[in-house]
Amino acid sequence: MIRAHLTIDPHFTVGPINRRLFGSFVEHLGRCVYDGIYEPGHECADENGFRTDVIELVRELGVSTIRYPGGNFVSGYRWEDGVGPREKRPRRLDLAWHSTETNEIGLDEFATWLEKVGSELMYAVNLGTRGVLEALDVLEYANLRSGTELSDRRVANGHPEPHGIRMWCLGNEMDGPWQLGHSTAQEYAQLASKTARAMRQVDPDLELVVCGSSGAQMPTFGEWERVVLEETYDSVDYISCHAYYEPVGEDYGSFLASAVDMDRFIEAVVATADHVKAVRDSEKTINISFDEWNVWYQVRYNEVDKITDVTEWPVAPRLLEDSYSVLDAVVFGSLLISLIRHADRVTSASLAQLVNVIAPIMTEPGGPAWRQTTFYPFSLTSQLARGVALELKLESPHYDTDRYGEVPVVDAVATHDPERGGTTVFAVNRSLSESVTLEIDSRALGAVTTARASSLHDDDIFAANTLAEPNRVSPTGNDTVEVSEGTVSVTLPPCSWTVLTLD
Ligand code: AHR
Repeated sequence: MIRAHLTIDPHFTVGPINRRLFGSFVEHLGRCVYDGIYEPGHECADENGFRTDVIELVRELGVSTIRYPGGNFVSGYRWEDGVGPREKRPRRLDLAWHSTETNEIGLDEFATWLEKVGSELMYAVNLGTRGVLEALDVLEYANLRSGTELSDRRVANGHPEPHGIRMWCLGNEMDGPWQLGHSTAQEYAQLASKTARAMRQVDPDLELVVCGSSGAQMPTFGEWERVVLEETYDSVDYISCHAYYEPVGEDYGSFLASAVDMDRFIEAVVATADHVKAVRDSEKTINISFDEWNVWYQVRYNEVDKITDVTEWPVAPRLLEDSYSVLDAVVFGSLLISLIRHADRVTSASLAQLVNVIAPIMTEPGGPAWRQTTFYPFSLTSQLARGVALELKLESPHYDTDRYGEVPVVDAVATHDPERGGTTVFAVNRSLSESVTLEIDSRALGAVTTARASSLHDDDIFAANTLAEPNRVSPTGNDTVEVSEGTVSVTLPPCSWTVLTLD
């Protein structure tokens, strides 16, 4: 049996856990919106056509903020197509995903849906094919109470109350050659800066996210962040990070260590942002909005990409519908650990995406909705990570990986809620074959009266939840927990994610 050792002291903190860390993302992509959150013909549909079974699952997932409407989609999107009488809304080509967009759902409907799920809207403006004026227009439509052309139009469209959107993304992945309107860092920085300054003239308190790189592997990574922040530093609040992880062949050891890459990515962006801060002698700190993260590899490209006749682009095709295994969920849980470990600088994050498209929730048209394996680490972390993230002393054996060199077998983070006094440890065991006993020095916490653990593990690391077997995998109580004076121990099964609560 391998052993790892963790020392927890609630006096050593990283920073407060911002609820916005547990955000997600809904893009007009595949069946995320249509046949996902919205299916008017479904027996569970409410008066607005939204699936109530999905609403319940989104609530259970515990999602704080939801980024909308894209993603790559937003760079060709005209927001005004999606408001007003439905019968007048145009059908458009979605160049990003080779689909046809019906515009049945737009800003107002999405805001209504968000009220039902209890999440906050984070809205992305199109800086790919549009600019300052269109960003100002959608801001006026969404946030002004009334008395102007566009705010009155919202009222006339049946939404007397403003949507009150606080967080705005200034475009999406503008460094990516696949992006409509892809530009150089200088070009994008100037447009983002002008847009941010104009939006702030309407409302200085908006929270604005400027595009960072669409991945740490991009050739312009680092330099892009520097150039963009030098131009926009005083006008924005966050810089975005995006990362998707995948196994290469059967190198699951490296895949399980994906959070090592996420750690390095975050720390590199923080270093760049702080470099710009130092050069400018600024008092202000730019934080990270990690507004796309996930495991994604099964369906990167799809048959629809090959449909060259634009008159045949389908409405809401099945796209990027990855089915997540236990192995994927363990990697996913470790990415959440990385985000929490950086809670002082990652103050917003969005799991990409929410329903059907690389998602924790799946639906079948006319059929059920179910939880993927990744649902569980997200819902439990969102529910139990409260208060502050703690700095830990973790001693773990290491193993060798092709991609990241020597990495710890166990990774963990802990949060402490000073009000309630509880502490929660989130841990992964990356060994594919061995259990690990995690011994926790809990003396600094005082007397631990109750300790409970739950683990996501299966003897078959490829086990997944599917339409045929929607409840194949779920976390189970881990009864190996032992509490003695000043020490708590728990055994982490091979390739597993565990949450341990200490009262
Ligand atoms: O989440 C899927 C896609 O991944 C998004 O549309 C894009 O921003 C990213 O490349």
